[in-house]
Amino acid sequence: MTSSLMTEFESIYHSPATTLSSAPGRVNIIGEHTDYSDGFVLPCSLEFCTKVLYRKRADNLVVVHSTNYPGESDSFDVSGDITHGSSQWGNYIRAMAFVIKRAGHTLGGVDVLIDSDVPQGSGLSSSAALEVAIGGMFSESSSLNLSAEKIALLGQEAENDFMDCQCGIMDQMISAKGEPGSALMIDCRDLSTKSIKIPEDLSIVIVNSNYPRKLVDSEYNQRRIDCEQAAKKMNVAMLRDANLELLAQSREQLTAVEYKRAHHVITENQRVMDAMSALASNDIKTLRQLMSASHNSLRDDFEVTVAATDGLVEICQQVLGDNGAARMTGGGFGGAIVCLCRAEDVSRIKQAVSEQYFDRFQLTADIYVCNAGSGLKVEQLEPLPA
Ligand code: GLA
Repeated sequence: MTSSLMTEFESIYHSPATTLSSAPGRVNIIGEHTDYSDGFVLPCSLEFCTKVLYRKRADNLVVVHSTNYPGESDSFDVSGDITHGSSQWGNYIRAMAFVIKRAGHTLGGVDVLIDSDVPQGSGLSSSAALEVAIGGMFSESSSLNLSAEKIALLGQEAENDFMDCQCGIMDQMISAKGEPGSALMIDCRDLSTKSIKIPEDLSIVIVNSNYPRKLVDSEYNQRRIDCEQAAKKMNVAMLRDANLELLAQSREQLTAVEYKRAHHVITENQRVMDAMSALASNDIKTLRQLMSASHNSLRDDFEVTVAATDGLVEICQQVLGDNGAARMTGGGFGGAIVCLCRAEDVSRIKQAVSEQYFDRFQLTADIYVCNAGSGLKVEQLEPLPA
């Protein structure tokens, strides 16, 4: 596939690409809406990824095309102030240039072609994949030698300070540091990671609800404010530092909403710890209980599910019984659900979703059977044969 992209690059820029930076989307197995409270998460990187082909320019221009938006392009000068442009996807590239420059680095110009197969708007982190791949490109092309962790942190800053989304660090960290065949437990306070091999007989099935997501950023940012308020009233730095006992003692000080948000985060952090051991020992029954409790908590306490994702989880849980686990994944307000099950149950999920989902919600779901792919990679390209 890269060779047809290289041909496309050459036809746009009249010179071959020299380098490829690629970074994956992710699915979160458990640990939702815990990252911005310094908590724990257990995502894995996907094989869906964003590829960034590029070639250094002699001047300071960054010129960007994308196969996902044919006919559109963006260009800006990295020697001056970086401001927003009119292209929404182009702004992610500007955002990365902005935060890297703000960190004190000097950037040079590049010709860029982007190509992504990460489904967009489905909670599988297509924007983090783009940020991390672009971070890898700038790091290499301007000889900055940034670590994967630093690129992830810059990606989060790009979202927070340029794109106005107050996201946590999970998506960028897993996109930068994911490992094939494994999930990564990330401690979002000190950013330490522990890799957990996904048992070979466990399939990861993602069901995208295709529910039209609305007001996602404003609702998301409000959840973060609720958590920060709750932590403040409980006299802890972050909800990571609270436990159920403290929550019970603080009940009077908290609004009903803050209480629920804190209850979700505190219980979800514990579920991540428990799920880590259950995954390592291929204990599907325990995973089922934990993922089901996570979903219910996101529905009732954190209020980020919609009827369509609740319905999909119900359909899949019913089909799988004790032999598989299902929950919503990602930021919520639509998006996708994730199932862990045995290979022989995948076709039963497909059948149940196709029989029941449209009838109940007048929507058609997309189903992806996935493997954990690798994190950020930057590689030199061999020229195409003449
Ligand atoms: C989005 C954010 C992440 C995380 C999840 C919810 O994906 O980008 O930082 O908060 O939502 O777990």
